[in-house]
Amino acid sequence: MSNPSSDTHGDQEPSSQSRSAGSGIPSGQTFRTRAIHVGNELDPATGAVVPPIHFASTFRQPGAGEWGTYDYSRSGNPTRGNLERTLASLEGGSHALAFSSGMAAIHCVTMLLKSGDHVVAGCDLYGGAHRLLHQICDRSGIQVTLVDLTDPAAVTEAITEKTRLIWAESIGNPRLSIPDLRILSETAHQNGAWLGVDNTFATPALYRPLECGVDIVMHSATKYLGGHSDCLGGTLAVADSDLHQKLYFIQNATGAVMDPMSSFLVSRGLKTLDLRVRAQSQTALEIAQWLQLHPMIKNVIYPGLANHPQYDLASEIFDGGYGAMVTFELNGSIQQTAKVCESTHLFHLAVSLGAVESLIEQPATMSHASYAAEDRKNFGITDGLIRLSVGLESFQDLRDDLDRAIGIAMSNASS
Ligand SMILES: Cc1ncc(COP(=O)(O)O)c(C=O)c1O
Repeated sequence: MSNPSSDTHGDQEPSSQSRSAGSGIPSGQTFRTRAIHVGNELDPATGAVVPPIHFASTFRQPGAGEWGTYDYSRSGNPTRGNLERTLASLEGGSHALAFSSGMAAIHCVTMLLKSGDHVVAGCDLYGGAHRLLHQICDRSGIQVTLVDLTDPAAVTEAITEKTRLIWAESIGNPRLSIPDLRILSETAHQNGAWLGVDNTFATPALYRPLECGVDIVMHSATKYLGGHSDCLGGTLAVADSDLHQKLYFIQNATGAVMDPMSSFLVSRGLKTLDLRVRAQSQTALEIAQWLQLHPMIKNVIYPGLANHPQYDLASEIFDGGYGAMVTFELNGSIQQTAKVCESTHLFHLAVSLGAVESLIEQPATMSHASYAAEDRKNFGITDGLIRLSVGLESFQDLRDDLDRAIGIAMSNASS
């Protein structure tokens, strides 16, 4: 393969990524062990069991025109490289890249495309991805069609000879739809397109899309990977070094890399990812089951409930949990919906998700406000929808918090 980036020094040395590949940890070791040990090797200088954070922006070179392992932190940084090795291992890929945000990671994927190319994306899609595709990519002449990715016939119909990318979310946002990525990857590859998947809601602890033929897996590391609402980041992982080189070239050329402190925080978060996600998923299941029986709740959407349209698929593909996001609709007015969101104490009213503290939000006015009202209507993002990110607090406390808030909202309207 030719190096697509051989015109600048940082790219001639594809090593930022070669360093990401191969960990020295036997591949047979479990996810949880690799999360702790891959990319977290002892510091050879001091024996520290936690590698130091490298804040240096530049590195002394062996000679003029000679490049060491690192030269400039945009092209490669030891702390970011450690995280990228952990991620590649956890995703079951060969390489990973860490970005300044989840949006920067998605933007990098769209920069694989050129004017005239076409994207098929899911209609159950994070608002920021919708805005990027419709209000930024369109400026470069990229066309986008949104479809229900759980309907393979609709996907096939949406594909044109210009389609170069199918963009999916392994658990859609906010309606938690679950496309079959095995079918989507076949469809993409038969049509000469890449399949990129935002795996933020599912996390690699529960689901590893590269294992079913997906080309690029993306995360908002701001969410579960970091896990503590204290850093911003995005990641891409791939199993193909040619594709990795293309993405690395774009990242280095455009510069949206993850900073060393965030890289350290995400690395630390990954060590407990498996434990956190499993515990949060269990609590989310209990909350969804409780909401389902609540007299004031019209509809609960959760992949672990038997009435979810893709419950069977979710049970087959997810590894021991259905994720920690729950969406529901109140049997009340828009004002009452807002009142529920404003009346909880443990669930903070905030966008974002995936951290140890639980969050509540109204997608129509918050995470999906950038959708046109018409699109929100077409895609079922009603004003009455409430989205929960279930954290690590106990089920009993979260249930009582929600019950109280629902009670306040309902009594408010009737007074
Ligand atoms: C599913 C999903 N993907 C991508 C993003 C964007 O990530 P970031 O906010 O880190 O840019 C978000 C942010 O909320 C998200 O929820």
